[in-house]
Amino acid sequence: MKVEDIKTKERIPLKKYVTFGIGGEARYLAEPRTIEEVKALIDFAESEGLPYFILGGGSNVLFPDEGYEGLVIRMAALSQIEVDGEYVIAEAGVPLKRFILVARDAALSGPEPLIGIPGEVGGSIVMNAGLREREIGELIESVTILTYDGIIEDLPPSELGLAYRSSKIQDVGIIVRARFKLTPGDQEHIDQEIQRFLERRKATQPYGVKSAGCVFKNPEPDVSAGFLLDKAGLKGFRKGDAMYSDIHANFIVNLGEAREEDVRFLIEEGKRRVYELFGYELEEEIVLVENPGGL
Ligand code: EPU
Repeated sequence: MKVEDIKTKERIPLKKYVTFGIGGEARYLAEPRTIEEVKALIDFAESEGLPYFILGGGSNVLFPDEGYEGLVIRMAALSQIEVDGEYVIAEAGVPLKRFILVARDAALSGPEPLIGIPGEVGGSIVMNAGLREREIGELIESVTILTYDGIIEDLPPSELGLAYRSSKIQDVGIIVRARFKLTPGDQEHIDQEIQRFLERRKATQPYGVKSAGCVFKNPEPDVSAGFLLDKAGLKGFRKGDAMYSDIHANFIVNLGEAREEDVRFLIEEGKRRVYELFGYELEEEIVLVENPGGL
């Protein structure tokens, strides 16, 4: 298979592909449709010495204003999903929402609390997305990884290093598919739970605006970074078009044409104030991508 055969574009504005709506151009952006195509792209990048970045739903990523001088491999077209009894098998690019609704349609319970998280299956597992009631890692039977040695292998959750908003998957390779074990339930009840969690999310978080979800991890299980940032007076704090949300202080929203540098400034200011007031060193949950080349 030739790389030219795989959907590849040049000089593509990354802001279109991330929920923050921020980022310059990618040198190349490719959208593989099969696992073999993912492998071919990585082989190509490695043989050319071209840095690459795996992009899922783009809901937790801040790209540089000057762009990414490498290959961005966008997983969205890897989007097959099927139900097999109590199992749902989803490729990395399946949006979480679709996974949740397919499970509901099959009267399978488990992922309902994740509704409203804008990511895709792959990225959500890599960062073990979730909330107090549910982390996606709890639902995994196995994941299929394309290792950096080019081998496709299935790993059980015990080998993924899953923890609060993190995993060790990126040490091994790229997630291409996941097999979830869900619990048969009552479809109407599942649907009600989906609505309940969605309404709660809409009431407590900025929704339908440009953001990348929570910016920082909670420093302790019962200490909310949002609470600390709020107490430190950051709600509504703004630089350019980037602003700490006045609904939930752990979200930075893009009011229009925010730039990466504005967001980075707000991140540093949030860290500084929370450290000075409360002694906590906040750690980013969002991925701050560096431009490997410099355009
Ligand atoms: N709070 C404030 N001000 C704020 C934000 C929160 O006072 O600006 C208070 C709330 O009133 C509440 C407490 O802090 O008493 C906890 O707030 P919340 O229930 O919103 O939970 P959180 O710890 O701030 C976590 C996750 C969210 C997830 C919610 C679901 C992290 C970093 N955040 O937020 O996940 O949606 O629980 O309840 O773990 C994400 O990871 O991107 C994310 C949004």
